[in-house]
Amino acid sequence: MVKQKSRYVCQKCGFSFAKWAGRCENCGEWNTLLEQIVPTDAEVKTALAKGAVSGKKLDAVSINTIEPSDAGSRLLTGFQDFDIVLGGGILLGSVNLLAGQPGMGKSTILMQVCSNVANSGRNVLYVSGEESAGQVKLRALRLGASSDKLHFASSASGNDIAKTIEEGNYDLVIVDSIQTLSMAEISSAPGTVSQVSNCGNLIIRAAKSSDTAVIIVGHVTKDGTLAGPKVLEHLVDVVLNFEGDRYGGFKTIRAVKNRFGSTTEVAIFEMADKGLKEVKNPSEVLLAERQNTDGSIIMATIEGARPLLVEIQALVNSTNFGYPKRTASGFDLNRLNLLIAVLEKRTKLKLQDKDIFINVVGGLRLNDSAADLAICMAIASAAAGRKLNDKIVVFGEVGLGGEIRSVASADRRIAEAKKLGFKNAIAPATIKDKFVLPVKDLRAALVKYMNNK
Ligand code: TYD
Ligand code: MG
Repeated sequence: MVKQKSRYVCQKCGFSFAKWAGRCENCGEWNTLLEQIVPTDAEVKTALAKGAVSGKKLDAVSINTIEPSDAGSRLLTGFQDFDIVLGGGILLGSVNLLAGQPGMGKSTILMQVCSNVANSGRNVLYVSGEESAGQVKLRALRLGASSDKLHFASSASGNDIAKTIEEGNYDLVIVDSIQTLSMAEISSAPGTVSQVSNCGNLIIRAAKSSDTAVIIVGHVTKDGTLAGPKVLEHLVDVVLNFEGDRYGGFKTIRAVKNRFGSTTEVAIFEMADKGLKEVKNPSEVLLAERQNTDGSIIMATIEGARPLLVEIQALVNSTNFGYPKRTASGFDLNRLNLLIAVLEKRTKLKLQDKDIFINVVGGLRLNDSAADLAICMAIASAAAGRKLNDKIVVFGEVGLGGEIRSVASADRRIAEAKKLGFKNAIAPATIKDKFVLPVKDLRAALVKYMNNK
């Protein structure tokens, strides 16, 4: 018999090597090489020949004759906006991943969801690999979660959890968290890629076969990537990101992937003493504590599909020594540096010896290009010690030439500003609306509206 040849194939990039190594030389990932037997040419040929005849013709049907999955098979979370983010509730048989930093409130909101779903008459199971029954009960008491249909189990075994789901006794199962689980057949530690992806796969298979809705909790690292279970994102049906300020402020849940709904919606929450509460009028809450000082600008942004007014604050100080410091909370630092460069080049502001700090109030993270103009005006306002009229909101994208560019959903931004009693919006000149004070470039915007001491 001929000796079988094997190759070491990188599980990330697919490159193969003759020898094993700790690190793939092609893509640089660690611990991704796995041994695979290379079939001989003859084997490949026979396999292909066999494969060609062993297949069966697929029974395809016209899409018009297919019955849609039952729309009534969605579990309502008890949070209106959360249901909308999910596409109308949690679909039975779907596997959802809720990802967020530790301490964000994942266990809290899921306990609330469990209680609400159980109280609607469904059987619910909460499995925790992190906390004991007593600890979970303490949280449940605090949240007022109680129901005969709400069950708890403490387990870190992927096998046991999958088996339990497969039995089909529960409509909703929470797995908190995937990083604590391990499968008996795999020797690596909990939280490693192989444990996470294999446990994930087991649970997904069980959920699909028993039509059980499953929510898996995943911890993310500081930079926002899923720790370990990046692989899981491709396997599950829905990926929900739970973001925001861990210590007060708003928290948002949005779907970054949703096989059964859109990814434009967002639910906004606040942590209270009895768990998370939905914030229905975020603009009002955000503006309630505002003081109109210099460096403060109200921006009309779009969070998900809804308009939102947020305050952007800038602080500009002289640099004490050496390199000026630039810090942004709630805004991309690279974008801030770019905007500072544009301000220096296209206006008369001198910022090279200034420390600049930007803060987006309320713990929100702005991913909206329309924030550019508001950031620039906040910096200019702080640098010159001049205020903007407090009945004016700002939005617009700033180009490298200092030109103000148009942005999406201008009408919704304007409508929100009107609703909250603002009188005008400094905005791109392309918008035709009496409410808008049109500006074509950054310099003109500063000269015209930033001159009242
Ligand atoms: P937790 O849900 O345990 O976070 P995660 O599961 O994402 O790690 O709790 C987050 C924080 O919320 C915790 O530090 C305590 C706080 N908290 C409240 O402020 N009010 C409450 O009612 C509860 C249950 C928790
Ligand atoms: Mg937790």
